[in-house]
Amino acid sequence: MSGHEVLTLSSVSKAYGGRASLIEKLFGRQPKSLQAVREVSFTIRKGEVMGLVGESGCGKSTIARIAAGLMAPTGGEIGRAEKTRQQMIFQDPFSSLNPRWRVHDIVAEPIRTHRLRPKNAVSARVGELLTQVGLSEADGAKFPQAFSGGQRQRISIARALAGEPDFLILDEPTSALDVSVQAQILDLLRDLQARLHLTSLFITHNLPVVRLMADRIGVVYLGELVELAPTDAIFRRPRHPYTRLLIDAAPDLDAKDRSLHPIPGELPDPSDPPSGCVFRTRCPFATEKCAAERPLLRQIGAGEVRCHYDLDLTGRELAA
Ligand SMILES: Nc1ncnc2c1ncn2[C@@H]1O[C@H](COP(=O)(O)OP(=O)(O)O)[C@@H](O)[C@H]1O
Ligand SMILES: [Mg+2]
Repeated sequence: MSGHEVLTLSSVSKAYGGRASLIEKLFGRQPKSLQAVREVSFTIRKGEVMGLVGESGCGKSTIARIAAGLMAPTGGEIGRAEKTRQQMIFQDPFSSLNPRWRVHDIVAEPIRTHRLRPKNAVSARVGELLTQVGLSEADGAKFPQAFSGGQRQRISIARALAGEPDFLILDEPTSALDVSVQAQILDLLRDLQARLHLTSLFITHNLPVVRLMADRIGVVYLGELVELAPTDAIFRRPRHPYTRLLIDAAPDLDAKDRSLHPIPGELPDPSDPPSGCVFRTRCPFATEKCAAERPLLRQIGAGEVRCHYDLDLTGRELAA
């Protein structure tokens, strides 16, 4: 890896062993295994925000956990720049903060663990971080229960920054928040991004959110990366039909309805994916070849696309 790359995933896959259902236990059947992520490759370069977007259940959190080193892939390889300090921000600001700790200690923990400041400077640093995320130094004395969802996510961000990360992984950081609160947190993240030059992996099911946040976007469908391109290229000229459908169906950033299944058709059972191209059962352009052959991720234009065809989808609304 060169000095400009923070993280590289090379053909990373993850199969879950499958949890036995009650029926399976009763009849002694083997639980089905599930290929949650299949041969996903991408590189994150220093200073960029790489976005991942896709419907619920497509494997985003699995990729996040693998990228964070919290889970081993069942296939493929991961390359990490040496001495990368990483921090993760999760979706649920209620379960991710220890309710028995005061906010001060929650934020101080990474500083103490990594000995980032002398003991007598920790409190001042915590106060500085709380201020940086729009809270006050006095908030440090309170417990997480005293705060709203948006404020708790600010605490999570302060804690992540306390670890002085070179690399931040954010898994649906605003998906649990009200629309107006989401906008405030996204503003804060953009501001911190610009000031601290953070490198990050930003994951969401919400296309307008990832458009706002990311320099490059990877579109994930049923565990596969189907398109990966710079953000402007994705919107100017989407090349995968799934990307086009997501764009057509995307609500405005401030829309109240944030449906998890924005496009027509049913998501296939991930334990029994379609043959050939995983998207073919919902694709308006599918041919016999799509059922027979799995397309490779190939370089077209400014990005990479997993489709047999080089479709011009510019300005074409596919959604009925
Ligand atoms: N620990 C697990 N054991 C078995 N299956 C899992 C586990 N975690 C996730 N899955 C399954 O893997 C698929 C991808 O899940 P996930 O990575 O959480 O997707 P996303 O974050 O995009 O919603 C889903 O079908 C989900 O049900
Ligand atoms: Mg998830």
